[in-house]
Amino acid sequence: MRCFILAALLIATPAFAANEAGKYQSVLGDCEGCHGRNLAGGVALATPFGKLVTPNITPDVATGIGTWSQEDFRKAMKQGMGKGGKPLYPAMPYVNYALMPDADVAALWTYIRTVKPVRNSVDVNQLKFPFNLRFLMRGWNLLFFKPAPFANDASKNAAWNRGEYLVEGPAHCGACHSPRNFFGADKGGLSGASLQGWWAPDLTGDGRAGLGAWSNDELVQYLQTGRNAHSLASGPMAEAVENSTSRMTDSDLNAIAVYLKDLPPGPGNGGGATGAEAQMQAGARIYQVSCAACHGGDGKGSAIFPPLAGNPIVTQSSPETLARVVLAGAKGAATVKSPTGPAMPSFAWRWNDEQVAAVLTYIRNNWRNVAPAVSADTVTKIRTSLHSAS
Ligand code: HEC
Ligand code: HEC
Ligand code: HEC
Repeated sequence: MRCFILAALLIATPAFAANEAGKYQSVLGDCEGCHGRNLAGGVALATPFGKLVTPNITPDVATGIGTWSQEDFRKAMKQGMGKGGKPLYPAMPYVNYALMPDADVAALWTYIRTVKPVRNSVDVNQLKFPFNLRFLMRGWNLLFFKPAPFANDASKNAAWNRGEYLVEGPAHCGACHSPRNFFGADKGGLSGASLQGWWAPDLTGDGRAGLGAWSNDELVQYLQTGRNAHSLASGPMAEAVENSTSRMTDSDLNAIAVYLKDLPPGPGNGGGATGAEAQMQAGARIYQVSCAACHGGDGKGSAIFPPLAGNPIVTQSSPETLARVVLAGAKGAATVKSPTGPAMPSFAWRWNDEQVAAVLTYIRNNWRNVAPAVSADTVTKIRTSLHSAS
């Protein structure tokens, strides 16, 4: 009863509304995805430079950010500077958050101040030498970080501009989908990138590897539920859907779709598997034995199983996600609108690297799919990386 009255009072106050606005900013930025459900940190992020463990950002005074001022927080979010001028590693997506208006960062701060303080002390910097030398990030920032407020493109409509802001700003889609240079800096564009044994696919308008064949509504459906008629979200994208995109408003999801659907085609996937007839034949046999029961002889899948025909995950330039899914299995996203994620079994025990390469080459070039052949060497590398990651 008392809780009920308290809740009614809270809903009636502007402070509550401000807090909801701040909470929505944390959904857009997916703070929980990296700092944990309770924001107390301790989540290990594997980077090409070693391991970073996310800090505690609850208001705990001893181990969180309880002693921070609002200005300290604004500088961390928009300038990548921690309290006392300590440069942060760009695994914290401040390069993207820098586009957020100060008012949104202030709302987020109001929200962060109200989460339950949790005592959890974290050893953040477990990077390899010399990357563990934090001062090097000053040089990285000089080279690769050019903060500027978000600028509307007057030739586009409001939804497009909101979409660009979300994708490039708080929702940091490029943190996974943009190609990276040697120093781990974003090279721009959303034509796909490798991350921790997954391939974050091409989101450009390319018809084969990108989203060229998806409608606006299909894209919204994927971001909201983790699946649509073309594809299904697993791994890091299943997490991004569960924590972030499935909780965004319909109008924000529509804006993201409007923006992505307007991207010109990227470099594409590099064409077909010429001269791979033997691999195709071997692959067809394996497909009949191990895959057709769920994905269908026509590759069209069913209500439960994703299609492989016309699924851009299958025809990416890099077969990293594919090989991973076949070797290790995968579980789709569970969201409010689609509560149970179906599972794909692991085949690592059943087929050797040559056989996995054959079945992948087959699904990449059967039906109307067209993509480069997969070599046994590539599968060996991915199998080895899966062993070392677990
Ligand atoms: C992709 C992962 C990722 C996401 C998403 C992310 N962070 Fe971080 N964050 C990190 C990492 C890693 C660090 C540690 C960086 C360092 O110490 O150099 C960090 C550091 C911070 C710090 C500095 C804490 C300290 O003690 O120095 C703050 C504040 C922070 N994040 C807030 C947020 C907020 C708020 C959000 C959501 C809008 C967010 N982060 C989303 C990875 C992430
Ligand atoms: C933490 C990394 C990460 C973030 C952040 C992320 N993605 Fe993804 N995304 C992936 C991976 C990995 C896949 C491949 C998933 C799979 O194989 O099922 C993917 C798949 C997708 C797909 C399906 C494409 C296809 O061809 O099937 C879409 C669409 C997509 N992401 C859009 C987005 C958007 C929009 C954002 C920002 C709101 C975003 N992603 C943020 C990693 C990420
Ligand atoms: C028992 C049913 C079953 C069998 C057999 C099966 N799969 Fe799957 N597969 C699934 C389910 C369910 C998913 C969705 C889970 C996910 O991707 O997270 C899936 C996902 C996939 C994906 C990722 C699609 C996407 O959009 O992310 C690929 C690629 C794939 N399977 C290929 C194969 C191949 C190749 C074989 C045979 C070697 C095979 N599958 C056998 C059930 C099955």
